Amino acid sequence: MTEVPFDCQNAWDYIEEIYKDTDRPKLEEYIKATGLVSFGPPIEDEMARLFSLLLNLVRPKRVLEIGMSIGFSTTHLALVAKRFGGTVTTIEIDESIVADARRAFEREGVSGSIEIIIGDAKDVICEMDSESFDVVFQDSTKTLYPVMLEDCIRVLRPGGLFLVDDTLFPIIRPPNEWTEGDRAIDKFNRNLLDYYVESTILPIGEGCTIAVKL
Ligand SMILES: C[S@@+](CC[C@H](N)C(=O)[O-])C[C@H]1O[C@@H](n2cnc3c(N)ncnc32)[C@H](O)[C@@H]1O
Repeated sequence: MTEVPFDCQNAWDYIEEIYKDTDRPKLEEYIKATGLVSFGPPIEDEMARLFSLLLNLVRPKRVLEIGMSIGFSTTHLALVAKRFGGTVTTIEIDESIVADARRAFEREGVSGSIEIIIGDAKDVICEMDSESFDVVFQDSTKTLYPVMLEDCIRVLRPGGLFLVDDTLFPIIRPPNEWTEGDRAIDKFNRNLLDYYVESTILPIGEGCTIAVKL
């Protein structure tokens, strides 16, 4: 059998071309519409598509997002939650980004399905009820990932979905050059296995962990 080398970039270009005309917001236009040049980096289009697919399986009533920034991921989560009569609660520490995110939610028709909490997520989550969310998406400061892990699992209902962005940061640099964030993510990735979850890490974007609380 002839071995055909698999070109990942080619694959991504092909996939983007196939999905280019779907009606979901695309990252490039979404950013352009905000008129901003500096903000916490949003998830990629391919991750947004994956999240939409997974949320359609879960049919969530309550979604928790940690780290909103300009709200690209928030919008995608809310578009699906809204379909099932659900809402997204998103926690953001940077008050200066909130007005721009609200304008984006108005433009995308999801403002009625999103509650924004301004504050430090590690404090806010402590006040949240156990097993009160169907989906939790962690995308805040990387050093918080291991610190908040226990609470992220606690607030998730059994069978709920835990999504985490940037979990392949530790492969970007060799271990002797790891930043504090890389070390924190490596710790998070290993600690997650101590919980009663089924999980994997997909090499999309800069790594995406998908876990189901058992
Ligand atoms: C990577 S960006 C989020 C991108 C967003 N999820 C998206 O895809 O559009 C990370 C955001 O987390 C926020 N953040 C950082 N530390 C936080 C904390 N302790 N509590 C809440 N938000 C935090 C930052 O201000 C930043 O806006």
